[in-house]
Formats: sequence, structure tokens, C-alpha cells
Amino acid sequence: MAQFIDWRPAAGRMVDLAKGHWLVTAACLGLAVAFACAARLGRRADEPPSLPEWLPFVVNTYRYMSDRKKLMDRIRPLVSRHKVAMLWIIGKPVYVVSGDIVRMMFRSSESMNADNLSLLILKNLQGLSAEDVAKFANDKSGRLKTPGRGHEHVPADQRYWAANHDLHHDHLLPAEATAQLARSYETFFTQRLEMQPLGRWVTLGIHDVLKRDMVWAATSSLCGTLLLDMYPDFIAAFWDLDSVIDKLLWGLPRWLYPGPLRVREKVFGMCGRYLEEAFKRFDWDGPDATAGWEPIFGSRYARERAKSTRDAGFTWQSRISFHMISIIALNSNTTPVTAWAMFELIKDPSLFEALRAEVETSLVSDPETGCRRFDTSRLLTLPLLQSVYVETLRLHVAVLITRQLIEPIHVGPYQLRKGAWLQAPPNFSHLDDALWGADSSHPASEFWAKRHVVEEETEEAVTGQRIQKQKFVMEARPSEFFPFGGGHTMCPGRNLARQEIMMTIAMIVSRFDIEFVHWVDKNGGISTGLPRDDTKYYGFGAMPPDRDARIRWRRRW
Ligand code: HEM
Repeated sequence: MAQFIDWRPAAGRMVDLAKGHWLVTAACLGLAVAFACAARLGRRADEPPSLPEWLPFVVNTYRYMSDRKKLMDRIRPLVSRHKVAMLWIIGKPVYVVSGDIVRMMFRSSESMNADNLSLLILKNLQGLSAEDVAKFANDKSGRLKTPGRGHEHVPADQRYWAANHDLHHDHLLPAEATAQLARSYETFFTQRLEMQPLGRWVTLGIHDVLKRDMVWAATSSLCGTLLLDMYPDFIAAFWDLDSVIDKLLWGLPRWLYPGPLRVREKVFGMCGRYLEEAFKRFDWDGPDATAGWEPIFGSRYARERAKSTRDAGFTWQSRISFHMISIIALNSNTTPVTAWAMFELIKDPSLFEALRAEVETSLVSDPETGCRRFDTSRLLTLPLLQSVYVETLRLHVAVLITRQLIEPIHVGPYQLRKGAWLQAPPNFSHLDDALWGADSSHPASEFWAKRHVVEEETEEAVTGQRIQKQKFVMEARPSEFFPFGGGHTMCPGRNLARQEIMMTIAMIVSRFDIEFVHWVDKNGGISTGLPRDDTKYYGFGAMPPDRDARIRWRRRW
């Protein structure tokens, strides 16, 4: 009725709008033609093919910001044919690559690096202070022990990238550091599981539990318990931050997009007040200064990070931001990967039983406490568990591995421009049937728990009897399976992630009987569809499931 009464003036407005609409359309077409001409003129004959867009320089940028997965799916056929294809994103050339070019990205090279990407992360996501961003930006000496050619004069205390790299490679990546972190993770995660009633069925959302208990255990292990004691709501604030990481990375100004910055400020505030308290309480001359774990800073890695960023003269804001980013790196990917693995096990009771039987072979009795625990070195070599782990990474990790060209390079018939970005989407090779789908009944797009397990006949050492044994095999090359990236910037938390995820799965399947109830959508309602990747995270890390699994579980011991 109201529409009817308003008809005349509305018609008048419609004419105006229509006029306006034509003006806007004409302007857009004009711009499109101008852009297209510019794109054509700017295009060299030795440039790789590019993904067409009806409004050059604009449409693919919009697609990149709004749905990277879809954009990469569109460009994939071009990349399969030519190994490289081009896009313009925010006025910059981006080469999407696969195959040999990925191998080049992972090799030590003076023609490309990840510094400008790391600078974006430091500035936009981590919130490093401007003066400290400048310190990293001015340091061109590289990440390795020996400064890059032409930068030998850079004093050791101004080699910021190398110091960061050394911290990871001294206190996070080595086997001993990882083993210590995994041991304390096991202790903390066990504490959480033992809060579940023994022998009684409880109904819950498994992803919800992992988001709470894995983050609690991993953060306590890496950073100590003081932070979580001071802020029991830290974990909820952390997940709010995780959900806006993509928005923060674009670096949009506060006036345009204030929400994500407010979310980060909350976590930042907690980390800041915690660090203040930690520095007040900690005795740097006491025995805890070199302890494997203590409650204030937690691991040696977190303690050394807090100390070295103070000693290097970073601003207070930057010191807090380093602490915050460690917690993001620690938790953002491990939890969704574990959730996906658990979903697969819950969906398939026979797989659940097979995995339980396998992990129980690595249970031992702790000589000190008499309690059951895992023999970690045995657990980590179990074939089915490793295969489930790799399958989950293969299907759900979608970090766009990124490097920038600091000089032009030739690949095949193409010359790639200096200053351009190279991006390698892992899912191009991770979902390639030619690589993974040898058994056509299990295409690469499908989770197949035994994809990386082979049966092998061996001779029993004592009896000489021929027996069938299962063995884990990884047939793909590092440039074909790269959930953790590669080269100098390859994830230094990869060993820890592997131990944490495999241990979490093993602890749950050995301790709990589980029954699936139903899928739960984002609003807590019953969902009939199967879970899918939340593609909002495509490009930045593991894609979490878009829904949870409501289960019943009962603790057995
Ligand atoms: C499933 C879990 C994880 C995945 C899929 C993952 C993946 C990645 C990827 C793809 C990169 C960039 C690599 C490159 O550019 O070549 C990276 C960097 C990094 N990751 Fe992880 N990560 C995981 C867990 C962890 C954990 C548990 C930590 C521990 C704190 C961690 C710490 C880091 C750090 C510090 C960097 C930056 C390294 C640098 O810039 O030199 N990650 N990760």
C-alpha cells in the first residue's frame, strides 16, 4: 500500500536514478576501456598469461579480497597449462605459480625474499611500532648467519631478521626444544582431559572443546600459566582476534574499519599487562632463567623472546606485539587441523577403532608416577596416525606461500618483473589427482586415511617368519606438499605442530569412547550438511570447519 501511495514521486526518483545509473555505467565503461588500454599497453610480449577481468586492476583485487579460494580456482587451469599466470592485485603484479617455480621459491636465492610480506605482517597484523618496523625495513642483510652480499658491514645488533630467525632456530625448531614443549603440552592437555568425568557420557561440541583446551594447554606450555591465570577470558579474546586476521592484514585505516583493531587491542591489552607483571616477578639471575619450563614465561623460547626484544631496545608496544604473534602462530593452525582429523575419525567408527588399536601400542607406564603416557618417539612413527595427520594437512591447509622478486627472473618463455609477488597456493598440488589419486577410487579431493600407508613384507628377526607390516610413505616432493612453506622462512613450529596434533588425536582416541550425535551450524542449530572449509581463511592458514560436531563421549581412564 505504502508503495502504491509513493508511486508518483518514486517514479520521479526512478527517472533520476536511471539517469544517475547511466552516468555511473558510462563512467565505469570509460574507466574500464581506459584500464584495459593501459593494461594492454603495459603488457609485454614475454609476460605470462593473465586472468581476464572485465574492469582491469579492479575486479581481481575485489575477488582477491572477498573470495581468494574462488579466484585461485579460476586461475588454476591457466597455471596448470603455463606453470605461471598473472593477476593485478591493488595495482601490483602477482604471479600465481606451481611446479618448478615453487622449487625456486624454496631455494636460497638473491632474486626473491619474503621480507616485504613479513613487514606487512609485523606492521598490520602484529602491530609493531613504526620505529621498529623501520629497523626491519632498513635491514637488508638477510636471515642467515652470514649477511647477504653487499651487506657484510651491517653490525650484528642491527641484523633484526637474522636475530628473529636465530631465536626460532635455537629455541623452537630443534628436537630438544620441541620435545620439551610437547612434554609440557601433554601434561597440560592431560589435565584438561581429566576434568571430564570418568565413565559417564557427556554431550559436547568437539571443535569447541579443542578451541578451549588445546589453546589452554599449548599457551601454558609455550608462555607459562601466568597469562591465563590473570585473564581466564584470554582464549575467547584470542579466537575473536583469529577471526579478523584477514581484515587486519589488509591494513585498512581505523576510520574505515575500526572493529578488527578494537579486537586486537583487547588481546594486546591483556598481553601488555601480563608482560608488565611477568617482568616484575621474574628473577633473571635465578635458576628459572634457564629452566625448560616455569610458570611466568613458560618455555625457553618465550623467555628468550621477552628478554631479547627488551635488550634489543624495541619499544614496549613492539615487545607486546611479539608476544601476541607467538600465541597466534602457536594456535591458529593446530586447532583447526586437529578438529578436521577428529571429524574424520568420528565419521568412521572402524577408522576410529583401527587408530585406537595403533596408538595403544605406544602407551607406556611412566616409571615415576605409574600413570599411562605415550612413548612419543614411537607414537610419532605410527603409520596410520601419520597418514591421518598428512591427509588432514593436505586437504585443509591453504597458506598462499609468498615471495617478492627483488630482480627480474626468467622462467621458460616468460620474464617475471622485479617488485612483483609470487604466490604458490598449496592446494593446486595438494589436490592434484596425478599426484595423489593413483587409486582412482580415492580421488585427491577425498580424505583417505590410508593414502600414505603401504603394506610391506618383512622377515621377523627372531623366527625368520615373513610378516606383513604397515609403513608410512610420503611420495610427494617438498615443492608438491608444502603446508609449512619452504626455504629460510619455512615454519619453525612445524615439529611442534606435528607432535601437538598427533598427540592430541592419540590422547583423545585412547581415552574416550565417542559417538556422533549431529552437526551443529554457526548459530548452534542442527545442521544436515557435511562440514566444509571456512574459505574466509584461505590464503592465511588452515581453514577451520564451518560447523562443529556434536558428540557424546565417555572417558575410559
Ligand atoms: C598446522 C600448524 C601450522 C601450519 C600449517 C603452519 C604454517 C606456516 C607457514 C606456511 C609459514 C610460512 C612459511 C613460508 O613462508 O615459507 C609459517 C611461518 C611461521 N610459523 Fe607456522 N604453522 C603451523 C604451526 C606453527 C606453530 C605451532 C608455531 C609455533 C610457535 C609456528 C610458528 C611460526 C613462525 C614463528 C613463523 C614465521 C617464520 C619466519 O617468518 O621466519 N607455526 N607457518
